Amino acid sequence: MSEHNFPAAIAIDGPAASGKTTVGKMLADRLGYLFLDTGSMYRAATFAALQRGVDIDNELAIVALAEQIDIEITNADEQTDGYYYLVYVDGEDVTQAIRTQVVDRHVSQVSAYAGVRQQMVKLQRQYGERGRVVMVGRDIGTVVLPQAPLKLYIIASAEERARRRWLERQAKGDSTPYETILADVIRRDKIDSGREHSPLRPAEDAVIIDSSGRDPDLVLEEILRLSCFTMP
Ligand code: CDP
Repeated sequence: MSEHNFPAAIAIDGPAASGKTTVGKMLADRLGYLFLDTGSMYRAATFAALQRGVDIDNELAIVALAEQIDIEITNADEQTDGYYYLVYVDGEDVTQAIRTQVVDRHVSQVSAYAGVRQQMVKLQRQYGERGRVVMVGRDIGTVVLPQAPLKLYIIASAEERARRRWLERQAKGDSTPYETILADVIRRDKIDSGREHSPLRPAEDAVIIDSSGRDPDLVLEEILRLSCFTMP
């Protein structure tokens, strides 16, 4: 497929646990593109703040921390313990630690700070400049890569998204109840969509894909049927 003139950058956005990471990773693998899940960067900054005891309400301190830490993401060739990639903060492997309920609780507050976003967007654009990239997040089509030739916005009902996240967590031995996860998904969506800087919303030219009731394989098929993949 890589001989084709496919879109050089693909932006995928959508609310929490909408399946964008799974489908984005599958699409990147299919095309031989780099995959970048930008949520993991906001999660890494949040985890670092919690670990180092930096007050989440202290915007200046959080921004200073985000500027100071070194976040590294390495694409794992195979799924490692169910993770598609490994995340390091200042050399420490935080891949599992950033996917916990405590990080879920604070990440939307940290990512609402303009200074944090500025720092992360700078790093994300560096990845974007290399081309042949699938980038996943909340503001990729609107802010990070507004020139991306293909923008997707993946949605699903809150209940279904919470159920998927619950199953994911169960498989990893995390027994957080479904109700807690549902409440968190709804709360995060509200903060992410309502914030002043780079709120979650589809770009005007984004293709909306509803993943409700459909396996990632089927969602991927729908994406690959788009004209940019089928027309020579
Ligand atoms: O995997 P899930 O959909 O639960 O979340 P995520 O993609 O890992 O993102 C975690 C949080 O980071 C989101 O709830 C947003 O608050 C923030 N985020 C953001 O603000 N901008 C992005 N481009 C990506 C994530």
